[in-house]
Amino acid sequence: MIRPVSVAGNTLSRAQGCSVMGRRQGRVATQVRDERASRRGSTTRDGFAVLAVAIRREPRIFTVSTIGSLLFGALTVADAWVLGWSTEHVVLPAFEHGTIDPRLLWVVLALFLGVAILRAVGIVARRLGAGVMQYRMQAHTRRAVTRQYLSLPMEWHQRHPTGQLLSNANADVEAAWGPIAPLPMAVGTLAMMVIAIAQMFFADLVLALVGLLVFPAVIVANLFYQRLASPLMTRAQQLRAEVSEIAHESFDGAMVVKTLGREEEEMQRFAAKAHELRDVNVRAGRVRAAFDPILAALPSFGVLVVLAVGVSRVLSGATNAGDVVTVAYLLTIVSFPIRSIGWLLGEFPRSVVGFRRVSAVLEATGEMQYGDRFLTRDGGGAHLVVDGLSYTYDPDQRLLDDVSFEVEPGRTVALVGATASGKSTLTTLMTRLVDPDGGRVLLDGTDLRDLARGELAGSVAIVQQTAFLFDDTVRGNVTLGLDVSDEEVWAALRAAQADGFVAALPSGLDARLGERGTSLSGGQRQRISLARALVRRPRLLILDDATSAVDPEVEARILEALRSGDSGATLVVVAYRKATIGLADEVVHLQDGRIADRGTHRELLGRSPSYARLVNAYEHPDGHLSHVSAELSGELAGDAQ
Ligand SMILES: Nc1ncnc2c1ncn2[C@@H]1O[C@H](COP(=O)(O)OP(=O)(O)OP(=O)(O)O)[C@@H](O)[C@H]1O
Ligand SMILES: [Mg+2]
Repeated sequence: MIRPVSVAGNTLSRAQGCSVMGRRQGRVATQVRDERASRRGSTTRDGFAVLAVAIRREPRIFTVSTIGSLLFGALTVADAWVLGWSTEHVVLPAFEHGTIDPRLLWVVLALFLGVAILRAVGIVARRLGAGVMQYRMQAHTRRAVTRQYLSLPMEWHQRHPTGQLLSNANADVEAAWGPIAPLPMAVGTLAMMVIAIAQMFFADLVLALVGLLVFPAVIVANLFYQRLASPLMTRAQQLRAEVSEIAHESFDGAMVVKTLGREEEEMQRFAAKAHELRDVNVRAGRVRAAFDPILAALPSFGVLVVLAVGVSRVLSGATNAGDVVTVAYLLTIVSFPIRSIGWLLGEFPRSVVGFRRVSAVLEATGEMQYGDRFLTRDGGGAHLVVDGLSYTYDPDQRLLDDVSFEVEPGRTVALVGATASGKSTLTTLMTRLVDPDGGRVLLDGTDLRDLARGELAGSVAIVQQTAFLFDDTVRGNVTLGLDVSDEEVWAALRAAQADGFVAALPSGLDARLGERGTSLSGGQRQRISLARALVRRPRLLILDDATSAVDPEVEARILEALRSGDSGATLVVVAYRKATIGLADEVVHLQDGRIADRGTHRELLGRSPSYARLVNAYEHPDGHLSHVSAELSGELAGDAQ
């Protein structure tokens, strides 16, 4: 499978974009953490810091939606003023005199209509702006996270489970930018409150003071609500990620689960988490159910008090009916949007948690460094030198130690070793999926680390032990976006001995292969992924046990086709079967992380008992291979050495 190499090659410009995003978010994340350290529980401040990232990234959209929201706020207040004015100048005189001036009616109509239209414009600008800003930020971050996934080295990926990466790119990104939705509304509400309070005082001082008691009551109730609901929401977010991790793992391992009859246990594992999530959500719902009526009733209660006090003041001549209506109305319309500030603050805990999780990915280091050297593209095989290579996964246990060998252009070398002796690891070093701890790999005399980004993918292809196919057509899986003709695809399929079964598929090259190529057999999948490597005409082709699932006869035909093909590619083959090994010009025998011996198959058979034991152990007496016995005997051979 050559995807990782070619993907790494395509990420130059994207990775640059990513680092800009990464740096910016990184600064804020550090700031957020520092602040957290110095002031525990300052989620509100952290939340504003996260919002500041979004505002700096999308200042124009933020301005448009905030202006929309301010317009809406101002006009909502103006609406109250129009209502009060109409009551005072049109409705009450009409009651008093029994007649109505039609011109005044038109004025009232025009005022209401004008305010309503402008308010609608404000709402559209606010909603659209908030939506666009939120989804754009989600898209920016998702792109940055995905780019980062692609540019981070294999070691990083080996330490991070897929379920976690999925939740980083989905749930965490959504949570991080959740507060953007109520942000413009909250900003507008603040402005509206200031204007409304000023107007209430302007209308009637006493009534305004009575009315103002409602605001602190609503804010205090909101704060209580946030305090109770926030931890529940944060927990629910973690649980959602855990549920998706379990689901992902169960679906991925469906075969194992089914064959071992573990459906019930898997279901219980999933159900336990799902129930926990349900319980937390229900608890959050209960808190909300308790607070919603209180928050809704407070303004109505305030209006009642204002009306009661207002009526007595009108009767005593201290104020007029219009002002009472204005204050009562202002109170109603301002009390509801106050809750948007609550929504904003309520989103903060989730947002800060999500942002931190996303930032941990964006700030992850270890991205591979590239040089500026290029390889010749003059056809023919590449010259490979592995020079004093050492590598370890576990610091206490050296896996590869001073491994050196050379492959002349166009030659075929078989890598032979017991299971877990480090063959696959060696292939990942030769394709620079990882960098060695010591030593170097030279391709045509150039250290792989000195090559420009993407350069290696143009010359080297690897077909890995487990074939990975995409949910795409045969053509899509072979080309993976490379611009090649169907003739070339067929030629690659022919060399991989895959043309026969592809031609037999109902739609040939256009046949879809299902997720991970489930509609094909294991051996067919291996041959498609081999064709994917061949169509790129690599100068060095590495096959890591890539034909293990095809029968020995087909395997031999594939190798013959590769060796006698006109490309003259250099071949490194991790092989088990004698027939395959026998085709190689040279065999490199890997043992205990070192090269035990090198030479032709015949030479090694003659002089190395451990080699003879190993290759003979893989073969059944009838000459056919059984995978289980191969692995077992490989291990036995490894132990025996
Ligand atoms: N990502 C990893 N993290 C930690 N250890 C690893 C990792 N990948 C491989 N190893 C360890 O390195 C050793 C060599 O693994 P490797 O896959 O290179 O062996 P191999 O020779 O290809 O074996 P096989 O013939 O079974 O394919 C094994 O002991 C394995 O446990
Ligand atoms: Mg292997």
